[in-house]
Amino acid sequence: MGLVWWRLEMAAPAELEESLLWKLPLLGVPRVALQHTPEAPERRQLLAWLPESDWPADQRQELERALAPLGEPFNLALPQVRWQRQADEDWSLSWKSHWRPDPVGEQLLVLPAWLEVPPEQAGRLVIRIDPGSAFGTGSHPTTRLCLEALEALAGARQRTGLGPGLGGLRVADLGCGSGILGLAALRLGAASVAAADTDPLAARATRENAALNGLDGAGPATGGPAPLTVTTGSAEALVELLEGRGADLLLCNILAPVIEALIPWFPRLLGPAGVGLLSGLLVDQAPGLERDLAAAGWRVERRVEQDRWGLLQIRSASDVA
Ligand SMILES: C[S@@+](CC[C@H](N)C(=O)[O-])C[C@H]1O[C@@H](n2cnc3c(N)ncnc32)[C@H](O)[C@@H]1O
Repeated sequence: MGLVWWRLEMAAPAELEESLLWKLPLLGVPRVALQHTPEAPERRQLLAWLPESDWPADQRQELERALAPLGEPFNLALPQVRWQRQADEDWSLSWKSHWRPDPVGEQLLVLPAWLEVPPEQAGRLVIRIDPGSAFGTGSHPTTRLCLEALEALAGARQRTGLGPGLGGLRVADLGCGSGILGLAALRLGAASVAAADTDPLAARATRENAALNGLDGAGPATGGPAPLTVTTGSAEALVELLEGRGADLLLCNILAPVIEALIPWFPRLLGPAGVGLLSGLLVDQAPGLERDLAAAGWRVERRVEQDRWGLLQIRSASDVA
């Protein structure tokens, strides 16, 4: 007889979605999925499957308690968790089947690792991701804002004759999570990505996702360096990985207070004509962050919003490009 499972189901508010997808595997629950409702994309359900024998009632309560603090930064209570016993056959059809190829912007396609590119998406630049390995499956508004901003930047460079795309750019990805942003930058033509995350599991996920995309090894026949390198740590570790030469493009999708604390590192992470894409901020946190950036000599040249989240594109105030 096959295993019996507990199926966890709960509403996944946009603010908590990625944190839940990221935290559950760390708490011993790797089989996680988001149920998208095409008719009401703003209402997503989180599903997870736990072997019944390993998860008695007290362990399940403990799990709920461990998830509750995820809502604190947003003043949100954890949505109600519903548990349902389920037979083996149901689960095997369930988990992976909820993931779909996810087109982003005009050019990119985020593809769960086990799926093939659908024929209708054949022209897109594919980023393969193992969902649940770390924050960054592409479904969170802040990740999407960054992916779309990368595409817009590539388009703008092309139009002004600086391209093709992000051609030749050295990119720094601070708070890389699954590595999705750096991998997208490489697909859009960047020459190299140096990535860092304070969470060692995220650094490992970035390394694994780079391998999944064939972007971990030495460059083409020239035997050049690996296009994506990653380290565990924050700005200091990333400066070291960049070998003291500021990048052309900085990607930083972390919560606003963390970005604020990292501003003093930006001059060492970015070269004098470099551009930064900052996200992870709620729209009402943008004015405060902009004030801190201006005081440190950074100019905001583009602002984008999606749901309640924002993205700022910055460059040094002394660079008039
Ligand atoms: C919102 S996730 C972004 C992941 C991915 N870059 C994306 O856009 O989907 C933020 C990531 O930043 C990492 N992080 C948090 N504070 C950090 C810090 N001070 N320095 C570097 N990484 C940090 C977290 O571990 C997490 O993986």
